[in-house]
Amino acid sequence: MVPAYRITRLTSDASVIADLSELLIHIVANGGSVSFMHPLTSEKATAFWKTSLAAADRGERVVLGCYDGDVLAGTVTLLLDCPPNQPHRAEIAKMMTHVNYRGKGIASALLQAAENIAVEQGRTLLNLDTAADEGAAGFYERHGYTKAGIIPDYAFKPLGGLTDTILYYKKIGKNDSLNS
Ligand SMILES: CC(C)(COP(=O)(O)OP(=O)(O)OC[C@H]1O[C@@H](n2cnc3c(N)ncnc32)[C@H](O)[C@@H]1OP(=O)(O)O)[C@@H](O)C(=O)NCCC(=O)NCCS
Repeated sequence: MVPAYRITRLTSDASVIADLSELLIHIVANGGSVSFMHPLTSEKATAFWKTSLAAADRGERVVLGCYDGDVLAGTVTLLLDCPPNQPHRAEIAKMMTHVNYRGKGIASALLQAAENIAVEQGRTLLNLDTAADEGAAGFYERHGYTKAGIIPDYAFKPLGGLTDTILYYKKIGKNDSLNS
């Protein structure tokens, strides 16, 4: 990743919510499968990030942003609020890099930062899902995630048409060798 980029934990702030909303709308418009359909309204995107950052403020998740100066180039969310019988697990979600910033290592750096936080929090298992069509399966496999399975016709792509989803997991932290 270019050294000038800065990865930071995001908290509830009007300008941060505006940046995240703009990025989410852009990603969905460009075919990114991140739970929303195109066209995504500013109201829906803002409501999503307000709720997400409120959860981050409560420590239930970590939302990371990668900034190039004042421009939000990418983001990822680490979901920490797991059920009582899964205190060792966390989930990677809402990984996205602005089209103009792709291929510069931003998502890789965000993923590494999220994994480091998960380890700090004592988590030993990460899971995630990604669309089979135009998703990020290859990206996660390069980063050591193991394919657990495929659910057919799981979700609509943002521009229409069903896609399978692929489930991934990765063991992390001190216990990864013990658990494998
Ligand atoms: C997936 C995504 C986040 C990657 O962002 P990025 O910042 O360009 O990723 P990086 O630059 O860190 O990529 C690292 C490597 O993975 C590769 N890569 C990126 N996306 C990939 C994909 N979908 N499939 C296979 N390889 C991929 C890159 O070519 C790069 O390879 P290299 O190191 O050999 O050059 C970005 O393409 C994106 O926002 N996609 C739309 C939203 C989405 O699908 N998010 C995932 C939801 S689970």
